[in-house]
Amino acid sequence: MKLLFVDCCISQRGENSRTKKLADTFLAAFREKHPEAEIETVLPETLLALRPFDAEMLNERDALASVGAWDAPVFSLARQFRGADGIVVAAPFWDLSFPAALRTYIEYISANGLTYHYDETGCHGDCKARQLVYLTSGGDFEREDSVGVTYWRQLAAMFGIPRFDYVFAGGLDACPDTAEETLTASCALARSLAAES
Ligand SMILES: Cc1cc2nc3c(=O)[nH]c(=O)nc-3n(C[C@H](O)[C@H](O)[C@H](O)COP(=O)(O)O)c2cc1C
Repeated sequence: MKLLFVDCCISQRGENSRTKKLADTFLAAFREKHPEAEIETVLPETLLALRPFDAEMLNERDALASVGAWDAPVFSLARQFRGADGIVVAAPFWDLSFPAALRTYIEYISANGLTYHYDETGCHGDCKARQLVYLTSGGDFEREDSVGVTYWRQLAAMFGIPRFDYVFAGGLDACPDTAEETLTASCALARSLAAES
């Protein structure tokens, strides 16, 4: 059993990152439930070092895909994502979605022919994971159509991952007096999600 942890907890709070606290809580409960599981982490540094695709990079990637050279380094994050049994993505709510580094990561894992493909009926996912969990914390309260959550829900569907769950610890800056309480309640949700994963 392999869990992929995409750690986009970029934070000025350092170790006190509220998003990281959600992620650590989820991972601790997950380890308790699955002591045998291997947890692979994509570090924030890795995400921040990714270069967004330009036309030349896309042409090179398409050329590799056209000959089935899926072992090329440009596909390594997509191969890792495709092969995981479960995926947890943690990112703070930034500018109504999440940090740009995570958007660039999505460009790398969205590899047509590897993580998904098209046929005459549309787009089909080719990833192994049964569940994707998205963990986020925000200054404002959660809105019904929160872009980050909606985006990851749709990505899970595109990649063929049948179950999507999320925790949004919202209103942390809007109501600083109750932020600790809110985060504790959100951590409890993350813990129970991990316990049923
Ligand atoms: C660059 C940046 C952008 C942010 N944008 C938003 C936003 O659009 N909406 C919101 O509700 N909170 C926003 N926030 C507040 C964070 O979502 C909030 O403080 C969150 O809990 C930070 O998580 P952390 O403790 O893991 O850093 C932003 C914070 C930063 C630093």
